[in-house]
Amino acid sequence: MSINYNSELKRFTIETKNTRYVLDIVKGKYPIHIYYGQKNDSIELKYKPFLYSFAPYFDEEDQAFSPDTYPSEFPCFGSGDFRETSIKIKNKNGDSVCFFEYDGNRIFKGRINLPGLPFASADDNTETLELQLIDTVTNCKAKIYYTVFPEEDVISRYVIIENHSGRDAVIEKCMSLCLDIPRCDFDMISLYGGHAQERNYQRNPLMHGIQSVYSRRGASSAHFNPFIAICDKDANEIKGEVYGFNFVFSGNFLDEVEVDQQSTTRVQIGLGSENFSWLLHDGESFTSPEAVMTYSADGINKMSRNFHSFIRNHILPPEPFDKRPVVLNTWEACFFDIDESEMMRFARAAAECGTDMLVMDDGWFGARNDDSAGLGDWYENKNKFKDGLAAFVAKVKANGIKFGIWVEPEMVNPNSDLYRAHPDWCLQVKGRTSLLSRHQLVLDMGNPEVIEYLKDIFSKTFNGVKLDYFKWDMNRHMSEVGSPYLPPERQGEAAYRYMLGVYELLDFFKKRFPNTMIETCSGGGGRYDLGMMKYGTMIWTSDNTFPKARTKIQYSSLLAYPASTMSCHVSNPENVCSSPAELKFRYEVALGGALGYEMHLPNASKEISDTVKQQIINYREYEDVILRGDYYSLYNPFECDISAYYYTDANHDKILLSVIEVHGMRERKYKISVSVADPNAKYYDKISGKTYTGRELIYGFDYRTHDADPYSQMWYFVKQ
Ligand code: GLA
Repeated sequence: MSINYNSELKRFTIETKNTRYVLDIVKGKYPIHIYYGQKNDSIELKYKPFLYSFAPYFDEEDQAFSPDTYPSEFPCFGSGDFRETSIKIKNKNGDSVCFFEYDGNRIFKGRINLPGLPFASADDNTETLELQLIDTVTNCKAKIYYTVFPEEDVISRYVIIENHSGRDAVIEKCMSLCLDIPRCDFDMISLYGGHAQERNYQRNPLMHGIQSVYSRRGASSAHFNPFIAICDKDANEIKGEVYGFNFVFSGNFLDEVEVDQQSTTRVQIGLGSENFSWLLHDGESFTSPEAVMTYSADGINKMSRNFHSFIRNHILPPEPFDKRPVVLNTWEACFFDIDESEMMRFARAAAECGTDMLVMDDGWFGARNDDSAGLGDWYENKNKFKDGLAAFVAKVKANGIKFGIWVEPEMVNPNSDLYRAHPDWCLQVKGRTSLLSRHQLVLDMGNPEVIEYLKDIFSKTFNGVKLDYFKWDMNRHMSEVGSPYLPPERQGEAAYRYMLGVYELLDFFKKRFPNTMIETCSGGGGRYDLGMMKYGTMIWTSDNTFPKARTKIQYSSLLAYPASTMSCHVSNPENVCSSPAELKFRYEVALGGALGYEMHLPNASKEISDTVKQQIINYREYEDVILRGDYYSLYNPFECDISAYYYTDANHDKILLSVIEVHGMRERKYKISVSVADPNAKYYDKISGKTYTGRELIYGFDYRTHDADPYSQMWYFVKQ
């Protein structure tokens, strides 16, 4: 049993393999957070109120018990908690004060499915606590769900709000997760960035007040990732307490961390209140997206591995093919300059070098000769593919490879047939200019007519075309967020309904094209989130394919997401790969995740194509440990001159160790140790041909950075 209710103490205890979460219903009414951390029976589990002046109370006889200071499971706006709250609902009187108290519970096997939203799949180990709350003044109800993933040490939370008030209510803020931790001597880790510079690692001490990461862009975006962690100030890869959080959603979000007067840390994950409101008629309900949290008593790596296993076991779709295809993507080699004869050269080169799939990127449809026109016109350009897409794809596949295609369904160029026919299908605000970005506008994906149109056009265009793969892109953010389809009182729903429309279309693609795989993308890794991972097997990690920059992006991505989600291409923008040393370096960096290529292979020299061929053969040997193994980071490239990490299988029989030098020309020394090695075994390194004892690997060896630039080194230890 993962969830236990002690009715005498009115205490809920939620347990995973290594962690425990305790909440009490104090005085029979107030859901109060008591504990979240490692299982530890010596910790006293009791909330002890402390009297603070100015903190409003319920009871003259117990003035210390105040919503402003107790660790609340569901802090409510306007009712004595002056910190950031989780729920704010405007009622029939026009005020937004609400207060939810305990009304019952239900503990059950499995979970609640979230209509229209991505959510973690449940298996036999899954149990859920439904905490039922009521606002006795408005008669609105809140159900908070805690779903437990015991093996991965993950607990998820989501909320359903029901309006039984007899009148309309407007949800103005609804956070999915709130955790009050009774201390604040933490660092916060978050990932910031932008296009082509995604997921920079930053770590700062918490301060009193609010610190947050967020998106108001309509996509989770490259600007902040929805993942955050709170950790001991001295936590590192292998030691210290670490709490990790994430959100199963791809649109606007808010991760808020507040340290209050009594030095308690409140972490909240959810939709936030900016760009969001939801009108609820009497009898209707609203379901929030799912937020997830994990706890590690053993440093950052353990937190990452908890999330990696959770994502692989409960978020990602099943792999559609026996082996993850190594793709050759045309973008960096061709940009828009594509047609059938050029693509056939790529198909032959792809087959010749041993890649499994040709992915034809942008430029195949409508009047799409550059990025100023054609988006929205999802039919093949007959000048480029005179016999049509089906015949072309059949010819590509005659080379014995698979075929994938690029789409960007959510967008439209004003210079397109679609826009000319339906200008009202874009997000827009009456009387205001709709700003362009990459010459494009955003379709109103919350309008069912738009979704039906997209389903229809893609069904027709791809009917009979033997596709194996979609690269699903999204290349601008939302401004002037208004929906011509929605009435004025529902305009606050436009960005959220947009995401529901995107998920519906993704779901349609999965059903209509069942044997295909989806790689998602948003100008690179601009929607690198758990929502997209529910549909896409992997994500184009970044448009920045420079290997040193990539090393950093990959390090940060791996903090929260497994290697199998990282699409890593060896690219060749300035033909630098005519140098074998550079090609080796790019390849070894790309081995951090799922390997692919983005080079002009048809024009490559024999030496280069032979090298690529051999690289793919070697990758086949490593791919299982990379894509399905456990990840151990040794050195963080944001703090050191190297990135060092290894992947290993469950029995630690195979260990693939990589060191990537990110600065070059600076001599530094590092100790590289492989703690998972078996001290009594011997390991043969298949790359150098040397044998090591497990004890030597655990003790570690000295690594000295090199004069050569670029430089990387790999070891593949196989237990003898
Ligand atoms: C985005 C993607 C690229 C490529 C282009 C095509 O920028 O990140 O990989 O697909 O769009 O326009």
